[in-house]
Amino acid sequence: MSSQIPQNQRVVSGMRPTGRLHLGHYHGVLKNWVEMQLNYECFFFVADWHALTTHYEDPSDTPTHVEDMVIDWLAAGISPSSATIFLQSEVPEHAELHLLLSMITPISWLERVPTYKDQQEKLRERDLATYGFLGYPLLQSADILLYKADMVPVGEDQVAHIELTREVARRFNHLYGREPDFEERAEEAISKMGKKNAKLYRSLRKRYQEQGDDEALNVGQALLESQVNISMGDRERLFGYLEGLGKIILPEPEAKLTKASKMPGLDGQKMSKSYGNTIGLREEPDELERKIRTMPTDPARVRLTDPGDPEKCPVWELHKVYSDEDTLLWVNDACRSAAHGCLACKKPLIDAVQAEMQPIRERAEKFENDRGMVRAIIREGSEAARDVARETLDDVVEAMRFSKQ
Ligand code: TRP
Ligand code: SF4
Repeated sequence: MSSQIPQNQRVVSGMRPTGRLHLGHYHGVLKNWVEMQLNYECFFFVADWHALTTHYEDPSDTPTHVEDMVIDWLAAGISPSSATIFLQSEVPEHAELHLLLSMITPISWLERVPTYKDQQEKLRERDLATYGFLGYPLLQSADILLYKADMVPVGEDQVAHIELTREVARRFNHLYGREPDFEERAEEAISKMGKKNAKLYRSLRKRYQEQGDDEALNVGQALLESQVNISMGDRERLFGYLEGLGKIILPEPEAKLTKASKMPGLDGQKMSKSYGNTIGLREEPDELERKIRTMPTDPARVRLTDPGDPEKCPVWELHKVYSDEDTLLWVNDACRSAAHGCLACKKPLIDAVQAEMQPIRERAEKFENDRGMVRAIIREGSEAARDVARETLDDVVEAMRFSKQ
């Protein structure tokens, strides 16, 4: 599979199993994943252990939520042939890495993650003074580092977690990156690059280490990126050797910010389950039509002849997501001049949302009728994820020199 991937960059992202998704998830996250799966090696997983960090009292709904959510992913166009789709708890290596990382992570790093205090305030009805809740950003770090991800597509609220992940990776590499025979192994790896490249690498390394030449560092890193004959382990050794560090066992990932999705809900506020203003990703056509027809509009438009102001209308916000320039002009003019009523204004919007949802609904139905296939996709994805995860853990355990007998 990876041979078809234009850039050998890895992407990891997860979602808590909240059950059925809505259009806010689609526009905010899923569309982005669908695009990424074509350009990168992607791992998308259901973070079911994360659900336990806040909802540990009754986890019995989780399995249904997992399946419903994966059906939504598949319906939105995530494909098991382009991305690895898996379930966190089916890959116990997540727990193993979390445990090992917890040994080197200062408690203060976790206490100062902004979501720690925020969520405790927000979810006051739950007792979140648990060890698991404090540690969940570190579980997220394990989720990411386990796959040596280059990029993690997340929203603004998750950036602090990626920052923690980078700090933990740095600390791990610093503590355990020195293999006893590091220099020898690095030299051996250099010779695998071929004469010309080996010579170039050596001179760039010298220029960087003796003269602090950043350009030489950049060129050296690009040279390593482009090498096809060396293993991932050797590449990481050489990245570290170039900079005068040890082997980079856990590379630092980058957050790839998803554009702030301001997907408006039925009442004009951000679409969210907790506001009760959502349109489900698999909403039935009749129900979808009803929801939009009954949306509130500018209160000034009591009679058909009363002019309105789109800026005061939640329908306008949705038009901005779904309608083309011409339709937007038509809406704006006709609203201000009372040339048409609100139902006429909603019509093209209803059509556009229906058109977007039609193929999603069809695909969802196919999977809904064959839940066995959905479970097989999750199972196979989890097996594939485990293979990659195990390799990283072997590296980690070896670096810690804590090999099993
Ligand atoms: N914490 C994320 C959220 O609440 C979900 C998540 C768990 C995640 N593990 C991850 C996201 C790893 C990206 C990468 O949305
Ligand atoms: Fe809103 Fe359209 Fe009615 Fe104007 S005409 S108030 S934009 S629904």
